[in-house]
Amino acid sequence: TPVTNGITNHLPTPVQRPRRLRISPALRDLVRETRLTPAQLIAPIFVRHGRDLRVAIRSMPGQYQMSPDQAAREARELAERGIRAVLLFGIPAHKDACGSENADPDGIVPQAIRAIKDAVPGMVVISDMCFCEYTDHGHCGVLNSPDRSDFQPQLGEGYLLNDPTLALLAEASVVHARAGADIIAPSGMIDGMVATIRAALDSAGLSHTSIMSYAAKYASGFYGPFRDAAESPPQFGDRSQYQMDPANAREALREVDLDVAEGADILMVKPALAYLDIIRQVRDRHTLPLAAYQVSGEYSMVKAAALQGWLDEQRIALETLTAIRRAGADMIITYWAKEAAEWLG
Ligand code: PBG
Ligand code: ZN
Repeated sequence: TPVTNGITNHLPTPVQRPRRLRISPALRDLVRETRLTPAQLIAPIFVRHGRDLRVAIRSMPGQYQMSPDQAAREARELAERGIRAVLLFGIPAHKDACGSENADPDGIVPQAIRAIKDAVPGMVVISDMCFCEYTDHGHCGVLNSPDRSDFQPQLGEGYLLNDPTLALLAEASVVHARAGADIIAPSGMIDGMVATIRAALDSAGLSHTSIMSYAAKYASGFYGPFRDAAESPPQFGDRSQYQMDPANAREALREVDLDVAEGADILMVKPALAYLDIIRQVRDRHTLPLAAYQVSGEYSMVKAAALQGWLDEQRIALETLTAIRRAGADMIITYWAKEAAEWLG
């Protein structure tokens, strides 16, 4: 041809043709490396006191705070779509300095656990174990204060006390497990939380209850919409004295190693999309099942853009969930669980 002066006559034809395997949907399905199924998804549910309540969460379109009866109905609908597990967050009737409702056998989460287990006995019920929803100050445990006999002046008022929080975690974990939780999921990044909860469960005759540890949980801006959902924003400061610095990867491995040694049954990395490198490293380093938490901000930013018509929600949700699986997560906690199960058919 005139423009190329005959150069094209000498071009080699490709020896390797990866496009051959992309010709048809069936071929693409055959060579797909990563599968996403409803059984790998865990649906978070926010529970609050009351009856017949479904309160829309402003910052998370499509998500609701539910009373226990509605949570049970939701569990039934999830089960019909192939979702096998839910993660419960409680909004208590009363908040106080040490989050006492978390250890109340008639507290909101124990009520919801019983309602869900009644409705769907086979549903795996995971209880998020933290105090930020239950404390009036919104931090994940008890705080250093001059009112306490163990006040530590050098730490400053408002510092989250580690070991006194461990004692409360032990107590509340036993209460949730006795109410029927299959898995306790401590999310506070308190040193020693896994060992303490394991020991407490074992000595209460609950050696069959599993622990899913929020092993590497970062101090993240992506939790923004959740604080509206769980009504749990810290009333002062932030969580960087206990959650991890987003800049650190080796430290995540250290946190994870500790939780493995302390007896965790399932590990978790959180958030997911901005931490795929951490998910991959944990997957390659340990044999325990690995969960990733696609958090509120990951959901709401896509919802918001989709509501503007700027991107295709279904496509992005399934693409990000697949990417999290590809990075190495065995299971994913996601607010898209129910919709994704429908999309996956
Ligand atoms: C409680 C907890 C939080 C989330 C899960 N458990 C909030 C936080 O740590 O501030 C965040 C979940 C989400 O954003 O979807 N410690
Ligand atoms: Zn917390």
